[in-house]
Amino acid sequence: MEGARAAGVAAAVEVARQVLAGGGDALDAAEAAAVFLEEDPAFNAGTGACLNAEGEVEADASVMASDGRSGAVAALRGVRNPIRAARRVMERTDHVLLAGEGAARFAAEEGLPTADLVTAESRRRYREMCTALESGGAGEGLRHLARGRDLARRAAARARTGDLGGTIGAVVRDDRGLLAAATSTGGMWMKLPGRVGDSAVIGAGTYAAPWGAASATGHGEGILRLGLTRRCVDLMRELGAQEACRRAMDEATSGGVECGIIAVDGRGGTGDATNGWMPTARWTG
Ligand code: GLY
Repeated sequence: MEGARAAGVAAAVEVARQVLAGGGDALDAAEAAAVFLEEDPAFNAGTGACLNAEGEVEADASVMASDGRSGAVAALRGVRNPIRAARRVMERTDHVLLAGEGAARFAAEEGLPTADLVTAESRRRYREMCTALESGGAGEGLRHLARGRDLARRAAARARTGDLGGTIGAVVRDDRGLLAAATSTGGMWMKLPGRVGDSAVIGAGTYAAPWGAASATGHGEGILRLGLTRRCVDLMRELGAQEACRRAMDEATSGGVECGIIAVDGRGGTGDATNGWMPTARWTG
């Protein structure tokens, strides 16, 4: 997947650049890059995202601008571009985060396109994982929970070999000094239905302030506990983006959290860091 992902990220930067050249702001550019990546099945977001224990895509996504505006959706089903739904939450409600059925109804009321996000490849991988579990002897009564537990561990092991991952993120600073971050994911393979990871949570998977913006990928539960992007952005009060990413990643490593992060600082400097297994692709423009 890595070649396809690197190409997708490079193309997404170009999409964002064109939005900025056309007069769009950092938020428009970050959203456009995220939409582009959600439509690319090489990534774990939007079309081709990973499947939960019931074989469904449940998407998490969030956006934030450096002026504090923010919006997110969690465990969202059947919406083609979850990042657009997150932005609508930000712009059209008094809330920050909508989840599940309510989020899907809101997206429909907003006229956002629906889609079956399950691809033939993700269905094939799901079946492979089910077969692996069944041959492991899980009893029928435990089947549902076992899928959510044992196979999540199996998926984590596969992630270490670079087979999984693929949460998408974009960070942008425009020439008026607005910063924005956007993050979108299907989460983790075989997660329990209703599981929400860091990508839906402001301060965990996504954060922006006047001095920096950041987007994270990796083990959602760990990133939630760390408040990783908030920490990285706080570090950018004093540090450039690269050093802030490095220090945030050192803290994640100390905490045993496998993850990656991208960031832009208030002067437009960019940074990224990962602590091992995450197959990251980064392109700066
Ligand atoms: N970082 C994506 C997730 O764990 O949901």
